[in-house]
Amino acid sequence: MKPLPGIVPTSIEHQRSDGDSLFPYAYGCENPDLSLEEVVQWVSDNRDLFLAQSSRHGAVAFRGFPTPTGEDFDQFIAALNIANFPYAKSLSNAVRVNRTPRVFSANEAPPEVKIYFHHEMAQTPLYPKYILFFCEIAPLSGGATPLCRSDILFTQLSERCPEFAAKCEQTGLRYTNVMPGVDDPKSGMGRSWQSTLGVESKTAAEKRLSDLGYTFQWLADDCLKATTPQLPAVMEVSPGQKTFFNQLIAAYCGWKDPRNDPSDAIRHGDGSKLDAEAVNVAVELAEELAYDHQWQAGDIVLLDNTVAMHARRPFQGTRKVLASLAEMQTHRFA
Ligand SMILES: [Fe+2]
Repeated sequence: MKPLPGIVPTSIEHQRSDGDSLFPYAYGCENPDLSLEEVVQWVSDNRDLFLAQSSRHGAVAFRGFPTPTGEDFDQFIAALNIANFPYAKSLSNAVRVNRTPRVFSANEAPPEVKIYFHHEMAQTPLYPKYILFFCEIAPLSGGATPLCRSDILFTQLSERCPEFAAKCEQTGLRYTNVMPGVDDPKSGMGRSWQSTLGVESKTAAEKRLSDLGYTFQWLADDCLKATTPQLPAVMEVSPGQKTFFNQLIAAYCGWKDPRNDPSDAIRHGDGSKLDAEAVNVAVELAEELAYDHQWQAGDIVLLDNTVAMHARRPFQGTRKVLASLAEMQTHRFA
């Protein structure tokens, strides 16, 4: 690492370790006089190291840095020199509000809504390699962002439920969700079909879905039900290192709102139903392996989205956590 006096590798509460790999890897800024410009130069000088650490450890946390605002967060990301993946281009089902072209609110869902573990956009053919989170206002209580090493989860799931793990790997998954005709910010998955698909007409929506390999059906109240093509459920991120790269837990447990029934949200790629007991094991493992990042204002966390899952605990008070996505990848079942 190219050093900057006052910035040191540090420990962070609830930090986990697996062998010699810390989760998350963490840097602390102990010099209150450092300027944002100095930090941005330090990030730029060390960007290869930080990206490699996010892949090796799953996540890298930065605490105590002179980054109090979303605009400072934007400059920090710019220094990493990674390609922006704008929310507007994503097929995410969450309602979000852009702060800058790179930075948006993580999810507008109300405080009591729990968001279950997932890899960002693993339920669509387009996903980001990296995701960054930033805390502008820490909540009064709750509101942690739990993170989970998905490679460790998949290894343990394969030991405890070998048939289920193999079936996930062999057939992949298909996801079904119902999109409203207008944004519904009360739902964790309330993004309208117009916004999700970047279209204005039903004809254009049908073309976009067909191009992406989805099947679909129009429902009452201008709602659109869409089912993805078969998508991979497991990813080999490095030789011998496989991650449970999917939205199985979130879709099975959490895709619930006035339009969506979680029992209808996910199937194996061959159309068969999921083994409920095995899904419960995956849910339990994710909780057992979770590191809860309890936010402090100014915190930044960089994730390799193919290695670490994330979620959101319910909270009280005002919580402002912003996010940014980078390096769009395509996701196809071989
Ligand atoms: Fe997410």
